[in-house]
Amino acid sequence: MKTYRIALVPGDGIGPAVIDAAWPILERAASRNAIALEATRFPWSCEFYHETGAMMPADGIETLRGFDAVFLGAVGWPAKVPDSVSLHGLLLPIRKAFAQYANIRPHRLLPGAEGPLRREEFDILCIRENTEGEYSGAGGRVHLGTPEEVAVETAIFTRVGVERILRFAFDEARKRRGKLASVTKSNAQKHTMVFWDEMTKLIAADYPDVEVTPYHIDAMAARMVMAPETLDVVVASNLFGDILTDLGAAIQGGLGFAASANINPDRTAPSMFEPVHGSAPDIAHLGIANPIAAIWSGAMMLEHLGAGEAAADVMRAVEATTARGLGTMPGKDKTDRIADAVLDALG
Ligand code: NAD
Ligand code: IPM
Ligand code: MN
Repeated sequence: MKTYRIALVPGDGIGPAVIDAAWPILERAASRNAIALEATRFPWSCEFYHETGAMMPADGIETLRGFDAVFLGAVGWPAKVPDSVSLHGLLLPIRKAFAQYANIRPHRLLPGAEGPLRREEFDILCIRENTEGEYSGAGGRVHLGTPEEVAVETAIFTRVGVERILRFAFDEARKRRGKLASVTKSNAQKHTMVFWDEMTKLIAADYPDVEVTPYHIDAMAARMVMAPETLDVVVASNLFGDILTDLGAAIQGGLGFAASANINPDRTAPSMFEPVHGSAPDIAHLGIANPIAAIWSGAMMLEHLGAGEAAADVMRAVEATTARGLGTMPGKDKTDRIADAVLDALG
């Protein structure tokens, strides 16, 4: 039997609840398809930070490197540890160290789910650049606390980085409906975003079968609300992709539905799978976190590992569950009830 070794990093807040809800479903779907999942759990989190002074051990990245994939809940507990410490100590370094440069975030309505738009006909795949751009961390502050204080955060876009994410997005568009929306703010940001637009045009020449349209981020935000059915693949920089995918989650019916895969397309290191949402401190410990985003992210993990049948089984079970109205209204159903229903639907 093929065995995949998975590193579980449940993290903070609702992270452990959604990982614990999703894991038995993934295990069962895998075993029904003659695949074994072997979990190793890492308690890296803000609590771990309080105990040890770090979000993960110094050799944390090297430890994770030995796994086939990482399945992560959420990181952050801003009341106890500043986000600038927790996220830069765990989630962001994993994406970077493992060259998980393609963050794939699908947005469509599951059966029974009601987005605020009350429409069902959209199927968007957001491809977010995941290792550079606005998240490069370059910058600093001078003259702290004085009237002359200045804070600088420099977005860094490399040719290698922009070209590889655009090619990835063109390839995805080719596999789907052949339409690519490339999102920038090149009317205001004249270096980085103009560069992105130029690279899009250059690479488009290799994809005559893909219809590419440039959009400004502000106009794209409106389009995702007003006309989401006109979109197929949407590619954007790190920050713009981050914002658009919470918007994508909203039109799906909420953050509890939005899944994501941090992919290293070259497979030189493990990829990481996690819901789009965060640790949701406002509902942590209430037992009402929607586990569907985590379960769907787990299905994306199975797919990436080559267990496509198991992934399809998980999604069929999720859809059978939401079609019954379970998990479709924020806060209505308990995490466990939704997860049990998906497990039942799996058979
Ligand atoms: P959030 O996504 O945690 O929460 C936003 C809103 O969505 C909240 O009202 C929350 O209750 C709701 N929500 C989120 N997930 C839900 C679910 N599964 N079911 C039902 N409702 C859900 O965003 P935030 O409040 O901005 O961030 C909280 C913390 O999480 C911060 O520390 C932030 O930095 C961190 N964060 C981490 C990740 C990650 O680890 N990938 C992602 C986003 C935010
Ligand atoms: C996400 C999150 C992270 C991001 C934060 C927590 C750093 O919002 O995965 O969408 O911006 O990438
Ligand atoms: Mn986000």
